[in-house]
Order: sequence, then structure tokens, then C-alpha cells
Amino acid sequence: MNDPNGLSQVNGTYHFYFQYAPAWPEDDTKWWGHATSTDLVTWTTPQAAIQPSCPQDADGVYSGCAVPLEGAGRLRAYYTGVRVPEDARPHSQHEHDASQIVVETADGLHFDQKRVVLSPQDYPQEVCSHVRDPKVWRDGEGVWWMLLGTRTRDDLGEVMVWRSVDGLDWHLDHFVRPDHDLGYMWECPNLAQLDGHDFLAVCPQGLQSEDLRWQNRWQAGYLPLKEGIYQTQEVVADDFVEWDHGFDFYAPQIFVDESGRTLLVGWMGTFDHVYSAAPEGLAWCHSLTLPRQLSLDADGRIIQRPVPELDARRRNPQDLAAGRAHTQEGLVADLTLMDIEGQGSLVLGTQEEGDLLSLTLADDLLSLAFLEGEAAQAAALGRTHRTIPCTGLTDLRLVVDGSTVEVYANGGTVVFSTRWFPQGEDLALRSSFQAQGTVYQLA
Ligand code: FRU
Repeated sequence: MNDPNGLSQVNGTYHFYFQYAPAWPEDDTKWWGHATSTDLVTWTTPQAAIQPSCPQDADGVYSGCAVPLEGAGRLRAYYTGVRVPEDARPHSQHEHDASQIVVETADGLHFDQKRVVLSPQDYPQEVCSHVRDPKVWRDGEGVWWMLLGTRTRDDLGEVMVWRSVDGLDWHLDHFVRPDHDLGYMWECPNLAQLDGHDFLAVCPQGLQSEDLRWQNRWQAGYLPLKEGIYQTQEVVADDFVEWDHGFDFYAPQIFVDESGRTLLVGWMGTFDHVYSAAPEGLAWCHSLTLPRQLSLDADGRIIQRPVPELDARRRNPQDLAAGRAHTQEGLVADLTLMDIEGQGSLVLGTQEEGDLLSLTLADDLLSLAFLEGEAAQAAALGRTHRTIPCTGLTDLRLVVDGSTVEVYANGGTVVFSTRWFPQGEDLALRSSFQAQGTVYQLA
């Protein structure tokens, strides 16, 4: 699986669709998988929801969104259908046809007839064939809007903003462009509207990794839209903020649930990486992050916190004292360090098992690192470290769930997500931070 798709809630039920290749690894053709939940913690995965079935999506049902239709209990999904023509030149900019397709469902599972609402000939001349990942919503006046990620023929990542009266007949309204180059392609555009401020989420491809930023192969972050999504045509590339600094995070989607919360879910993985995100031989690869509630801090930055539904699952609190080893039964835990003073390190795994993953604050740098050694490198799958500037830590929360680790620092201003494949069956922990430490089991 890869990107989350069609995140939505209808009559109390959350629907999380996702990019899903049922015949992987033999065949990588994408469908939409489907998971449902009423509490964002326990999930069922009924069956795949959308599969290739028309000429326009013969080579993949790519990413998109879902819009609940008011009063009707129905969900309308928008996605990109991909078709690779027989004569496509591999690795050229024009390697496929991308159409935007609409389907509706009454039960979240069975979708009716596919309608192609935008075809390659509808796009403006300046964009190449990379046009995908529709994000659709209706404004207060009932006007429909669509964001599409694109790559121009000059290799610039940009977003197109389309409008429509009925969500079917679309007209290009404007482009949102960076004031200077921010990658050659912007995938998975999305929108967060928080306290009257609009933020454009994009996944730029082609940024050069640096020591303290953009360390993954492709990036995922957001840009403030000073004049809002309807007016802003140029964003400041230097304002780009990464959502997450871990090894495994990409293609997040944002949606507003029925209680009005703005939630974000990312794909806990990336593609085309130099390292692997899963041991060989698994029949199933990748996962989604926890759902995270978004809000703004006093400086106008977006903070991310796991949804409170998870807090309700905490059981059996135990102290995590500085310098003392702690073993938690199983590989599921929710851990908090409050009132942190000074520098320190939190280590998961054991020396004996050799699968150490550490989070360290030292010299104004915060690092998530897989430690060296043969066994550690097996758990690391070729990864080393991710480091960002950080002048101090006040608090930390880590949620470990089998092979996933999410780190929320300083109230959720800084997040790291990674897959981790420890050797042991229990979770060994050791912290050197002077802090109030508590470890919970999660029911
Ligand atoms: C992002 C992405 C999307 C595309 C999908 C295909 O990870 O490349 O742009 O729709 O994956 O699976």
C-alpha cells in the first residue's frame, strides 16, 4: 500500500481508502483499498473498493479524495486514472495519460459508474502529462474547487486550482506557483484551513537533500497561503515547512471530520528510496500513520497531535525514570516525557538484540538514528539518521505500534515517523532525559 486516499466520515463511519497494489510484488498496478472505523483506533478492511475497469484507468487508479454529499449519505470520490499508451517513451515527461475520474457510493464499498471529468486535452499547454491527485471540496457558497498537482513542461512543480458549479464540469481558475524553484513536480496537493488561515500541502519531488532538511528522497510539507486558496497565485518557496522529519513519511491527506476536526494521515513510507522500509519476504508492505489532529500554535505554525481517541486506550502507567532500563511487554506503547530539562537520549531496543533506535538532543540538534552494528543495521534496513536543528525539548510523546514509531516533540511542533523492525518481542526502553517519564500500554 501507499498513499491514503478519500479520507472521510459519513454518518459516524470513517472511510480511509488507500493506494493498494493487490498483485504486488508481481504487478504494481494501483487500486483503492478500503478501511473503516468508528473510533479511529480499531479498523476493518472490507475489500478493495475501486479497481481499474475503464480505458482511462487501465494502468492505475491513482490517488484522490472523497467528498460526502450533504444529506444524501453518499460519498463522491475523485481520483486520477492512468493509462500508458502503447507508444509511450519510457522516462519521458509524456509517459502516460492522466484523467480525473468521479465515482459515487452509497455504502462506501460499492461504487457506481465512472465518469471522466477531465482528460489530457483539457489541461493547459504549459503542463506536461503529470497531472494528478485531485483534492476537491465545496466552499460556503456551494462552489466546487479542485486542486491538481502538476509538473510544467519547464520542470516546475505547481498546483492548478479548478472550479465548478456541480463538481462535474470543471474550469481552470488559477495556478499556485512558487516564487522560485521548489522541485520539478508537486504531488498530492491538499488544503488545511485552520483559524481562518489557509495552508497548501504539497509533496515536491526533485529537491536536493541537505544535512538538516529535505533528507528523504521526496518531501512532504506545507506552504502558508497569505491571501487564501482562492486568491493566492504565488507562494514563497522558502516558507516550505516539512510535516515530518522521520525516514518514512509521504503523501499525507487532510480532511475535516463530522465533528469539525481537521485531521491529517500520512503514508508511513516513501518510494524510490536508497533504503528499504520493510524486510524482504513480507506479503504486506507499508502502513499509514496515526490520524493526527491539526491546530495552530501561538506563532501560527501547524502542530500535529495523535487524535484523543488514542489517549482513551492508555492503560497501566509505569514510571520511566532517567537512566533506568524499562521493558514493556509486547511492542505496543505510548510513552510521554514531560518537563524535560537539558539534553539527553531516549533509546528503544537493546544492545544484546542489537536493534537500537535512538532519539537524541545534543548541541541544538535533534536526531533520530539507527545505531551502528550488524544487527542494528538489519532493523534499520540501510537507514542511518535524520537530524534537524532544535534549541530545546520541553516534552516528547512516542507511540510504538509493532513496526511503527511516531515521535511528537514540543507539543507536536516537530514530528518524526519511522518503521522499525526490532529483533525482540518486547519493547526495551532507556531514557537519559531529566523529565517526568510515563509509559502506558495501549488497549
Ligand atoms: C504519491 C503518488 C501519487 C500517485 C500515487 C500512485 O506517492 O506518486 O502522486 O497518485 O502515488 O500510487
